[in-house]
Amino acid sequence: MKTQPPFDLQTIRRRFPALQLEVNGRTAVYLDGPGGTQVPQPVIDAIAHYLAQGGSNQGGPFFTSQYTDTVIMAARHAIMDFYHARRPEEIVFGQNMTSLTFAFSRALAQTWQPGDEIIVTRLDHDANITPWVMAATDRSVTVRWLDFDPTDCTLRLDLLPGLLNEKTRLVAVTYASNAVGSITDVPRVVQMAHQAGALVYVDSVHYAPHGPLDVQALDCDFLAASVYKFFGGHVGALYGKYEHLDRLPAYKVRPSSPQPPGKWETGTQSFESLAGVTAAVDYIASLSQTSGSRRERLVWAMTQIKEYEMSLSYHFLEGAAKIPGLRVYGITDVENLVQRTPTFAVSLTGHTPETVATRLGEQGIFVWHGDYYAVAVMERLGLADKGGLVRIGFVHYNSHNEVDQVLAALAALT
Ligand SMILES: Cc1ncc(COP(=O)(O)O)c(C=O)c1O
Repeated sequence: MKTQPPFDLQTIRRRFPALQLEVNGRTAVYLDGPGGTQVPQPVIDAIAHYLAQGGSNQGGPFFTSQYTDTVIMAARHAIMDFYHARRPEEIVFGQNMTSLTFAFSRALAQTWQPGDEIIVTRLDHDANITPWVMAATDRSVTVRWLDFDPTDCTLRLDLLPGLLNEKTRLVAVTYASNAVGSITDVPRVVQMAHQAGALVYVDSVHYAPHGPLDVQALDCDFLAASVYKFFGGHVGALYGKYEHLDRLPAYKVRPSSPQPPGKWETGTQSFESLAGVTAAVDYIASLSQTSGSRRERLVWAMTQIKEYEMSLSYHFLEGAAKIPGLRVYGITDVENLVQRTPTFAVSLTGHTPETVATRLGEQGIFVWHGDYYAVAVMERLGLADKGGLVRIGFVHYNSHNEVDQVLAALAALT
């Protein structure tokens, strides 16, 4: 396992202006990446440049509108490379993952009949649960729940065959839990679901900054993520197999495009954020020390990021085990770090999650507490009415020194 990143961490950190922030005289420690990452300077520059140079709505026969068209197309190509989609028309932008999922749940529900079934999981963020549950209610469709093992917070894929049958229309599953960091064996889910004739909608919001994505290898039908979780601005990006985007009925106004992706993109997009999308993907590709296509450089960079983050997980878990009263939820086996992101939900005896987050916050260490919309996870763990858990999340710009800082701050509370 590499304990040093394959890139110069100090140089990387200097590219993120926010990482220089000082709170109460101490350099801020951003361990809130699962709630949204910071952005490097090229993303800030790209967004500012779009706004400064003169923008316009899309599709007009004049300079600023044509410029906007190129910005949108560049962003589509960037996410196509990041997700490894087959063509740019398979990428749909929207306000965020939640809004995109509401739109697609309504569209897919048009194809469901009363008595059909769908499957959601208890490991998911509510954005990949409630839109489907509401759509199912509208169409008298039965919702089945896939459980996770509360001892290590991994999905019980052994139970999936028992939930699937010829009436199953959809499996909505997270690629990685935004609460406890467990990574799902998505190819296995897709294989089982497809065998039963069901489609698969993957929530990749939490996974996206932590490892390479490949929708073709996954063979999922849909995959949604949010660029603000992988070093860009606030915009959602959904992949759908072209055949689905083409075939499914969209709720849209006249006279918007009847073709994908335009038929799925309601209203005016956040063009400045789309300018930032390309810059964010290019930033990740720039971490690669290989040459080659952007896709190849992205795979290299994300693979190295995953490896480096595993070393942060190792370091954190080793230290956490020595702090009395600190309980880590999710995978704690350091031999199995490949199956988790460096996102840790923890409790500390004698303190509420809110108190821990507040004490750390006073020291400039930013962590979340509560359920972070992973409502079903907290319910399953019996923590929903106990204030949830403290969430400590690392990304590639975090250092081993920051792991030590949060461990020391937690130890000082005991
Ligand atoms: C795993 C996961 N899914 C979905 C969402 C919702 O994303 P958005 O804010 O883009 O709607 C989040 C946000 O925290 C998340 O972590």
